[in-house]
Amino acid sequence: KMEYKLRKAEPRDVSEILRLVKELAKYEDSENEVTLTEKELLEDGFGDTPFYHCIITEIPGESATDGPKVVGFAMYYFTYDPWVGKQLYLEDFYVMEPYRGLGIGSEVLRHLSDLAIKLRCMGMMFVVSEDNEPSIRFYKRRGAEDLSQEEGWRLFRFDQSSLVKMATPAEE
Ligand code: ACO
Repeated sequence: KMEYKLRKAEPRDVSEILRLVKELAKYEDSENEVTLTEKELLEDGFGDTPFYHCIITEIPGESATDGPKVVGFAMYYFTYDPWVGKQLYLEDFYVMEPYRGLGIGSEVLRHLSDLAIKLRCMGMMFVVSEDNEPSIRFYKRRGAEDLSQEEGWRLFRFDQSSLVKMATPAEE
């Protein structure tokens, strides 16, 4: 059995978090779309108002001189549904390829489920690319419902230029 440990991310983890964010983006063929920096991850996750939380999975180093190695992460935050209340939103979930299929992902979901139940959240929301069949199956096997299919919700975004158009014009 593989030895691994889950823990809350700390400020010193931001470079490893960014590495895994990029690996997941690459897995989704969107590596070039990651413009976030370590500085932003640090400010946004570890300031007075954290905009995200992160659970990290690490394994022991290979030799006595090596520190533990980060092999996976889950980034989440809390949202509010005016019909039912608090929800946990799972934003990013990734385990490095050589460490998949060993139960790490299930353990991360157990950890997040414990947390969500403790905080009386009514559900865990997330978005999956329709091309990502393995993870759609992974979630469905655990009981997830596909709301796009079953309820017809569509995912929207105003990009920054649309926001600028709607926003108060800048003073000359
Ligand atoms: N790779 C993936 N899955 C495997 C593999 C393998 N090499 N071998 C077996 N499996 C099966 C397991 O048997 C298991 O099946 P089960 O659902 O019947 O239990 C399942 O796939 C994997 O279960 P775990 O080992 O508990 O989970 P894992 O540690 O592999 O983590 C995760 C799951 C995070 C989805 C991981 O596979 C991964 O990083 N995939 C690529 C990135 C990805 O798709 N992330 C999710 C995007 S969606 C989002 O972020 C909200």
